[in-house]
Amino acid sequence: MHDYGYGKMGRMEKKIGKVKRIKGELRVPSDKSISHRAIILPSLAEGKSVVKNFLKSGDTLTTLNCYKQLGVKIKEKDGILEIEGVGLNGFKEPKDILDMGNSGTTTRLTLGVLASQNFFTALTGDNSLIKRPMKRITEPLSQMGARIDGREEGNKLPLAIRGGKLKGIKFFNKKSSAQVKSALLLAGLNADGETEIEEPVKSRDHTEKLLKAMGVSLDIEEGESYKVKLLGNINKLEPIEIDVPADPSSAAFFVATAVLVPKSEIVLKDVLVNPTRDGFFKKLKEMGAEIEYINLREKAGEPVADIYAKYSPNLKGIRITKSDVPSMIDELPLLMLIATQAEGETVITGAEELRVKESDRIKAVVENLRSIGVDTEELPDGVIIKGKQRIKGGIVNSFDDHRIAMGFSILGLISEEGIQIKNSECVFISYPEFYDHLEKVIEKN
Ligand code: S3P
Repeated sequence: MHDYGYGKMGRMEKKIGKVKRIKGELRVPSDKSISHRAIILPSLAEGKSVVKNFLKSGDTLTTLNCYKQLGVKIKEKDGILEIEGVGLNGFKEPKDILDMGNSGTTTRLTLGVLASQNFFTALTGDNSLIKRPMKRITEPLSQMGARIDGREEGNKLPLAIRGGKLKGIKFFNKKSSAQVKSALLLAGLNADGETEIEEPVKSRDHTEKLLKAMGVSLDIEEGESYKVKLLGNINKLEPIEIDVPADPSSAAFFVATAVLVPKSEIVLKDVLVNPTRDGFFKKLKEMGAEIEYINLREKAGEPVADIYAKYSPNLKGIRITKSDVPSMIDELPLLMLIATQAEGETVITGAEELRVKESDRIKAVVENLRSIGVDTEELPDGVIIKGKQRIKGGIVNSFDDHRIAMGFSILGLISEEGIQIKNSECVFISYPEFYDHLEKVIEKN
C-alpha cells in the first residue's frame, strides 16, 4: 500500500551518457493536470463525458482508480475514456481506504469533492505523499463544514473525512496554489452561499476553464491579485468532451535537451502553452535559448502550439523570484540544471514550495549536483548556481521523484563520464515512455 507501483515494478538504474546530437519530432504524453481534472469533473457531471488523449501514468491512473472506487463507471474504448458522471451528490462510500499513491493532485482535489459527500472516507499514500502538508486544504475545508482528522491534526495522511453540508467561505491563499484553489471550488459547488478564493499570482486555471465549459458561472477578477468566486448549490454540471493536449512539464525536458546538446533541434507537437503553465519556456528564451511556438492554436479551450527548440550555446544566467514561480513551479529543478551551462550566475528565490513536492526538490538538486562535482549554494527558498560548469558525471539519486530522475537524465547527455540515476523507474508517475522517447531522438553516429 505504501510503496505504490515501485514494488510491483522493481527498482531500475539508468545510465545516460554523452550523445552527439538530438533530432526529431515528438508528441510527449498528455497533460497531467488536465488529465486528473478530466476524470474528477466529469465524475461530478450528469451524463456521459468523453476524454481523448488521457494521460496513462502512475498519478492519473491513481485518480481513475479512486473515482471508480467512489462508484463512477469509467470505460475505455479505442483509447478514449467514457465517464458516466454520478452528479454532484451521487458518489458511493468507498469500502476500503483510498490509496492516493504518489499523487498530491488526486489527494487535494478529491478532499474538495469528498467535503460535501455525506459519508466516511479514509485516504493514504506512498512514502512521499504521507510526508506532504495537507493542512492548506483540510483547514479551509473544515471551515466550510467538513469533518477531517489525520496525523498532525489533519496535516498529514492518513486522513479521514466525513463530508456534509458546507457553507461558502472567503479564502486568501498567500501561497498561490491550483490544488488549493481547485479543492475549494469543487467543495463550493455543493456549498450554501458564495465561495471566494484569492491568490497573489494566478495559478494554473484548468479547473476554472472546465467548470465554465460545464455550465458553471464563475466571477473572476484579475488585477493586483487573482480572485475567483462561485455561487454554490449548483444544480448540475453538464457532461463534456475533453481532448487533452501534450504536457508542457514533460515537453520541458526535451526542449532542455535540444538547447543543451550541440547541433540539436527538436519539434514538440501539440503542447499546452497556457500562460499559467509556460513560464519555463519564456524564462529559457530570456536566458538566450532559441525556442519558438509554431502554429499557435486553441484546442478544447486551451492554447496549444508546436514548440521548436535548438541548440543555444549562449545562455545567460537569470533571476527567478516569487512571482515567477507559479507558472514554472514543476520546471524549476530542470531550470537549475540548465543554469549550470549558462554564462554567469542564476539566482532562484521565493521557491520554498519546492521543499514539499514529491521530494525536497531544492535538496535533491543541490545534493545530486554536488555528487557529480557541480558547485551550488542552497538557500532556504531556492538556490544560487554558478554558470559554465563542467559536468563530470557520477551517480545521483532520483529520491523517487519523477522530475528529478528526468532532469538528471538530461544532464547526463552532456556529461563527460555519464550520469547514473538510481531508482529511475519513478518516471512512470508522469512520463512512462520517457526513456523510449529519449532513445528515439538521440541520433546514432
Ligand atoms: C498542480 C498544481 C501544482 C503543481 C502540481 C500540479 C495541479 O501544485 O506543482 O504538480 O494539477 O493543480 P500547487 O497547486 O501545490 O502549486
